Amino acid sequence: MTKALDGAVAIVTGGSYSIGRAFSEALAREGANVVIADIRDGTDAAAEISRQFNVAAVFQRTDVSREEDVMALAAMVKARFGHADILVNNAALFAELPKVDFREIPVETFDRVMGVNVRGPFLMAKHIAPLMVGRGRGKIINIASGTAYKGQRHLAAYVTSKAAIVGMTKALARDLGAEKINVNSIAPGFTESASVHDNPHQKANTDATVKSRALQRTQVPEDLVGALVFLASPASDFVTGQTIAVDGGSIML
Ligand SMILES: NC(=O)c1ccc[n+]([C@@H]2O[C@H](COP(=O)([O-])OP(=O)(O)OC[C@H]3O[C@@H](n4cnc5c(N)ncnc54)[C@H](O)[C@@H]3O)[C@@H](O)[C@H]2O)c1
Repeated sequence: MTKALDGAVAIVTGGSYSIGRAFSEALAREGANVVIADIRDGTDAAAEISRQFNVAAVFQRTDVSREEDVMALAAMVKARFGHADILVNNAALFAELPKVDFREIPVETFDRVMGVNVRGPFLMAKHIAPLMVGRGRGKIINIASGTAYKGQRHLAAYVTSKAAIVGMTKALARDLGAEKINVNSIAPGFTESASVHDNPHQKANTDATVKSRALQRTQVPEDLVGALVFLASPASDFVTGQTIAVDGGSIML
């Protein structure tokens, strides 16, 4: 049976772990070959995905905030696959960030968050979009956050970075529309990702967020993959510049 993404080439930043791992697996399940770009070692993740879903899956260590790393990634994808069909800009700094009043955020921390969460997706789009041009299709999916819409206390750098992603999505959608490359975002609600589990100070958020939802339960990474596959597949060919909130109805755009 044909799958939605048979033979596609998908790049997932931060794709070895947590929500990104769920994204890598979901794309592979639909038949896509997967390139994992992560600062964390994704060799085993790629091997397991390749074995489980019978697709090509490769890992390249990449810090998305460094242009030389992103250019090396683009060169590897070009040499190995010749093109790219799907880019998922998932890597970001989040759970490990200390929760403090914005007046206590050192400028170095602010810049580091912007470097990974904003410059990263910009660099990835800049160097991967050329691998999509001329094919009559291409999908860039940015991972934003519901916090861009409702704010969050003591997380100013992160919230600012995710609001930038919503704006960047619209700007890149306009720039890439003529090349039939769609650019959209997913705004997840607070999700029990691996790193949220690893940071106990995040637990208080879970209870408060569940109460804010129309669908009152904890959100897990698997809740995000349906929207991801939709935005990666031809089913979304006339959807661009949008941010889809996937959060059980906490924010309603
Ligand atoms: N977990 C949540 O509640 C939540 C809510 C809304 C949005 N999001 C967004 O979803 C995405 C995934 O979140 P998560 O909770 O799985 O995060 P996580 O911290 O668990 O995982 C992030 C992944 O990105 C990688 N990464 C970090 N810095 C990188 C860099 N400079 N270059 C390349 N890779 C890097 C990490 O190694 C890891 O694999 C992020 O964009 C996050 O902002 C998460």
